Amino acid sequence: MNFRFTNADTALKGTVILPVAENNSFMPIGKALNTALKGALQKAVKAQTRFTGQNGQVLVVNGFTHNNVDQVILLGVGDVKALQDADFQRLGAIITAQLNQMGVARAQVVVHDIENKSKNTKIAATMAFGAKLKSYRFDNYKTKMTKEQKPSLVQLDFVVSSRAEAQKDWKAFSGLTEGIYLARDLVTEPPNKIYAEKFVERVRQSLKGLPIRVKALNKAQMEKLGMGALLSVNNASGREPYTLVFEYKGLKNKKSFDLALVGKGVTFDTGGISIKPGMNMWDMKNDMAGAAAVTGAMRALAHRGAKANVVGIVGLVENVISENATLPSDVVTSMSGQTIEVLNTDAEGRLVLADIMWYVQQTYKPQIMLDAATLTGAVIMALSDKYAGVFGEDDVLVNDVLRAGKETGDAVWHLPMGAALDRQLDSHIADVANISVTGGAGASTGAVFLKRFVQEKTRWAHIDMAGMAWSKSPSVMNPAGASGFGVRLFDQFVRNVLEKETVKPKKTAAKKTAKTSAKTKR
Ligand code: BES
Ligand code: ZN
Ligand code: ZN
Repeated sequence: MNFRFTNADTALKGTVILPVAENNSFMPIGKALNTALKGALQKAVKAQTRFTGQNGQVLVVNGFTHNNVDQVILLGVGDVKALQDADFQRLGAIITAQLNQMGVARAQVVVHDIENKSKNTKIAATMAFGAKLKSYRFDNYKTKMTKEQKPSLVQLDFVVSSRAEAQKDWKAFSGLTEGIYLARDLVTEPPNKIYAEKFVERVRQSLKGLPIRVKALNKAQMEKLGMGALLSVNNASGREPYTLVFEYKGLKNKKSFDLALVGKGVTFDTGGISIKPGMNMWDMKNDMAGAAAVTGAMRALAHRGAKANVVGIVGLVENVISENATLPSDVVTSMSGQTIEVLNTDAEGRLVLADIMWYVQQTYKPQIMLDAATLTGAVIMALSDKYAGVFGEDDVLVNDVLRAGKETGDAVWHLPMGAALDRQLDSHIADVANISVTGGAGASTGAVFLKRFVQEKTRWAHIDMAGMAWSKSPSVMNPAGASGFGVRLFDQFVRNVLEKETVKPKKTAAKKTAKTSAKTKR
C-alpha cells in the first residue's frame, strides 16, 4: 500500500474519509462537504443513531448522484483536542481495515482541519504509520490467491496543509516501519528459508546503503573466541552458525558505544534432546524474534540518523537433533571461562546469550546492555501474551525500559530477579547449571542465569519477549502473526535515554551517568 500527502486544494473525489468529532460535530471541511452533498451526511448520521462520532466509530454514506465523491466514510475521532499520537495511529489502522473490508482501492483522508496540539501534517504522518503497521502482509508463499483474498487498498492520500511538511514528518516514521517490516519478515519466514546463513544474507541486503557496519563471525571464528556455549546449541545442526554484529555510529567524533542491543536468534528450537512436545512446535520458528527486533531497531536507528552510538549483536543457531546433539548433563565452556552444565537442552537461548553478551562487552565496553529474547514459556504463564517481562536490578534502567514500552505500545512489565534465585543454578560439577534444579519462577531463573555473564561495569536489563513475538489473532493495530515487538521499544529507549543526554552540556551528562550507575551498582 502506498500513501501520498496532498495539499489542501486537492479536489475531493471517489472515496473520502471524513473525521467527525464527538456528538457528531462536523469540522469545517465536513460541513462544506455536507452542503455540497445536499445534507446527505447529516441525514445519514441522524438515521444511524448508534454513530455519535465516538473515537473509532465508522459510518459509510453513499448513493450520491450529483458529485465526484462516490462515498464518504465518516470516521469518529471523539474528543479531537485530547487525541494523542497512539490514537492517530489507531485511527490510521482502523481506516485501513475498513477500506480493505469494503474492497476500496484508493481513498482520500481529510486531515487538514483537525485541530489538536499536533499539527495536521504530523497527524497525517502518524495515521499513515498506523495504516502501514496494519497493512503488513506476508504472502510470499501463496500461489493461489484470488483477487478477493488480496488486500484491495493500494493508495491512501492524506489531505494536509503542507505536503512538504507532511513528508518531513513522515521521515521520522519511515525507518521505523521498515525496521518493523524487516523484523516481521524475518520472524515469519519458515526455518528452511531463514536459517543463520540466510539471516545474514537477508540482513546484509536490507541494510545496504545505510551507515551500519555489519560483521559476521562464522563457526571457526567463534571457536577461536571460545564461544563454547553458543556453539553447543548448534551441535546437531548441519547448518553453519553465525554471530552478526552491527556497528552504528551516529556520533562520529565519539569512539565508545553507549548501548549494546543483544538478540536471541535461535532460527528453530526443537528443544534438542530435551525435545518439546510436537503439537505446537511450529511456534518455535519465532525463537529468533529477539534477533529480529535488534536487527529491525538497528535499521530504524540508522535510517533516521539517531544521534547515538549503538552496537547490535545477534547469535544465530538452530537447536535440532542428531547424533552430534548436546546431551542433557553435558558440560560446556563459555567465552567468559565459566563452565555450564546443560541439564536441559531446551534452555538453549541463555547459552547463546551468555556468549554474545560476553563478546559484546569485551569488544565494545557498552555502558548499557539490553537483551531481547524469546527465553521462557514461564514468562507467558506470568504475564500472558500482552506483556514482555523486564528483569534487572538497576531501577533507573528498568524504568527507562518501562517508559519506552508505555510510549510505544510495546508493553513491558517488571519481574523480579535476585540473589535468592541465583542459588538455584548451582551445579554439582560445573560453575553454573542452565536450569533451576528446584524449579519455580522460570522466567526469573533465566534472568539470573544471564546475570552471571554481565560484567561489573555494564548497566543491564533483560527483556523476555516469549509471549510477544507472534499474535495468534489480529488486533486493532496489527494483523495476526509476527508483531515486530521490540523495534519501537528500542528506538524509543534510544530517543529517551541516549539522544536526550547528548543535547546536554557534556560535563553534566557525564557526571549524571557516573552518579546514576554508582548508585545502582550492586
Ligand atoms: N524458546 C523457548 C521459550 C518459548 C516458549 C518461547 C514458548 C516462546 C513460546 C525456550 O528456549 C525454552 O524452551 N525454554 C524452556 C526453559 C526450561 C527448559 C527451563 C521453557 O520455557 O520451557
Ligand atoms: Zn528451548
Ligand atoms: Zn528457545
